[in-house]
Amino acid sequence: MSKQISRAISRVLTGITTSGTPHLGNYVGSIRPSVRASLSHDVQSFYFLADYHALIKIGEPARVQRSTLEIAASWLAAGVDPERVTFYRQSDIPEIPELTWLLTCVTGKGMLNRAHAYKASVDKNNAAGNDPDADVTAGLFMYPVLMAADILLFNAHKVPVGRDQIQHIEMARDIAQSFNYRYKNNDKDHFTLPEAEIEASVATLPGLDGRKMSKSYDNTIPLFASSAELKKLIAAIVTDSRPPGEPKDTEGSALYQIYQAFASAEEAQTMQAAYKNGIGWGDAKRMLFERIDSEVAPMRDKYESLMNNPAQIEAILLKGADKARQIATPFMHSLRQSVGLRGLGGLQVAAKSDKKSVKAESASFKQYREADGKFYFKLVDAQAKVLLQSTGFESPKEAGQVILHIKTQGISGLSTWSSHLNPSSAEELSLINDALRQMM
Ligand code: TRP
Repeated sequence: MSKQISRAISRVLTGITTSGTPHLGNYVGSIRPSVRASLSHDVQSFYFLADYHALIKIGEPARVQRSTLEIAASWLAAGVDPERVTFYRQSDIPEIPELTWLLTCVTGKGMLNRAHAYKASVDKNNAAGNDPDADVTAGLFMYPVLMAADILLFNAHKVPVGRDQIQHIEMARDIAQSFNYRYKNNDKDHFTLPEAEIEASVATLPGLDGRKMSKSYDNTIPLFASSAELKKLIAAIVTDSRPPGEPKDTEGSALYQIYQAFASAEEAQTMQAAYKNGIGWGDAKRMLFERIDSEVAPMRDKYESLMNNPAQIEAILLKGADKARQIATPFMHSLRQSVGLRGLGGLQVAAKSDKKSVKAESASFKQYREADGKFYFKLVDAQAKVLLQSTGFESPKEAGQVILHIKTQGISGLSTWSSHLNPSSAEELSLINDALRQMM
């Protein structure tokens, strides 16, 4: 039997915590693969700045802000096209913390007890004879739930992450299953079960000291260090003391592993041969510098110009948040319905309505012209109470298009046209939502 090839669009989502300056490890493990994936046609990509996650580790507001700017600029400089992907800042999406709470209520505390990051803190405290939870915030404990909300809100299929994050993706699956099960829906699951995607060739990049390149080890090479700085840092990579002429092992060589993450297969083979033939460390470092610099240099200029224009980045992020919320807002609304957080207005209508008068009782859009010559519309409920009021349009056609958009998009369509609508309170929004759903 032949296997069916699925041509469905798959959704890829990943975030970077805004707690530091992006380094080569972030680039190789996350930024570069995500940019490459975004170029594929059957992929819909979501990339975001995980600034809520940053608050778990960082208590310095200026550092969180600075890092947000640096990581956004890095992603853009590396080729993320905000027109093509959905590129946003976590804290611009209020549905993420909202979903976090719904997920918290289906998450086993015992599972969170077993999370690596939390357990590491507890183990450290135990070893030091402290209270197991000394200096552990509830934020650290809840980290996996916030991350699950990031992923599940957009029903991502694939989540490219480093190995250290695999457990979090497994927890996200687990949480999704609990929610799907508790709020069973006859026709379909609420959440897609996400899968971790690990860049096989470059699972983790070693840092200057040979341990994993990480902010917490202070062994990183910043992605956008100047050429001179890059050269200096590469010179500081630890090597053994074998002199030029003596054969060297690529196995366990941080220098080789970093080189390999940037090199083509042939280049890597050439380097392997050079190791065997006893290349001097100085020469090997020069080759590494040249290889990295040739990849980074073209992005560096773009990075500098973005860093000098934070307002431009801000505008890109806000636009991205709008795009993300086109999905998040209606989905969150339906999740609220599913768990029983529902407007009571609809209940009243349902209780009152007898079958023959359902149509007559439903809400409707009314279009009209005012003395100012402009064209308006309003949404009125069955009792002719105004739920939504537009501002004036130049033509009836324009007003009609907005109505059509709102009718088809439901409440999420409102955000696109907010400048043409008088603002509504949250309570009004819930009535509008009920009315739109009745009309659909
Ligand atoms: N925890 C991730 C890290 O530190 C960052 C992150 C937050 C993330 N939310 C996410 C990654 C959602 C993937 C998906 O690397």
